[in-house]
Amino acid sequence: MSTEFKEDSYYIDQINRLRKERNAVILAHNYQRGEVQDIADFVGDSLGLSRQAASTEAEVIIFCGVRFMAETAVILSPQKIVLLPDLQAGCPMADMITAPQLREAKQKHPDATVVCYVNSSAEVKAESDICCTSTNAISVVKSLGKQQVLFVPDEHLGRYVASKTEADIIFWPGYCPTHYRVLPEDILKAKERYPNAEVIVHPECRLEVIVLADEALSTGGIIKYVSESAADEIILGTELGMAYRLQKDYPHKRVHLATEKLICPNMKLITLDKIASALENMRPRVTVPDNVRDKAKKTLDRMLAI
Ligand code: 13P
Ligand code: SF4
Repeated sequence: MSTEFKEDSYYIDQINRLRKERNAVILAHNYQRGEVQDIADFVGDSLGLSRQAASTEAEVIIFCGVRFMAETAVILSPQKIVLLPDLQAGCPMADMITAPQLREAKQKHPDATVVCYVNSSAEVKAESDICCTSTNAISVVKSLGKQQVLFVPDEHLGRYVASKTEADIIFWPGYCPTHYRVLPEDILKAKERYPNAEVIVHPECRLEVIVLADEALSTGGIIKYVSESAADEIILGTELGMAYRLQKDYPHKRVHLATEKLICPNMKLITLDKIASALENMRPRVTVPDNVRDKAKKTLDRMLAI
């Protein structure tokens, strides 16, 4: 592809032509760049995107998100071609646990049920008993009754779930570098500055941050909550792309990011030119070996059944 600068409209025209020719659907996570959200067929959270991937009629899925999300799409729709416009778009938290590490932990805790957050590799899902997203983590853990739980890889989501259930949870020391940067003092300062605002954070934040918030919700949960809330001012403790989405849907509400540090560089790797190039060249493609896929699918299906 030429390195010459081109306007967004050039790539948008190219994407619109190619998406029809390829019978492609474009799925974007709520943390994607504004211009990427704008051209997507569906913008949503991890759970919503999994469902879209499972139900779409399209032959090709362009996944505008990070690698584990594209892998989830492959697991749920193996007959489709799933393209991730930049293969470097990984999730550092997902990379904080590998399948061999999980196998070792399972040997140490043979009686524990392994709950893996969807932010994990296909191999880790294949080694787990049930998956969860930030939307359904509490319900998934509650559904296990009195069983001991090994919760991977997000320690903070795990601690949040533990604070809302009676569950006996063993935590894995993984974290999201973006949400970890939000400190209690950031929330306190923002509250001082915007005293009438409601504080909504993502459960990947530290528990000390969550307890200062009015709500801790997945990105899909945040959209639903804001649509129903009378509050017209919000302090947001999650990634910047979410603020774009909220301002677009609710232009009359004022959205303040709790801190400028809330940017996930991996999510921002997906750009219009890379989407156009993926559609043109039908790569980079994400695949999952069949043996891993079959096991990971069972883990995801158990979650989707709840
Ligand atoms: P949700 O969209 O499921 O809330 O996930 C947030 C996230 O960090 C994805 O990387
Ligand atoms: Fe991973 Fe955090 Fe980025 Fe989500 S925001 S993709 S959890 S690093």
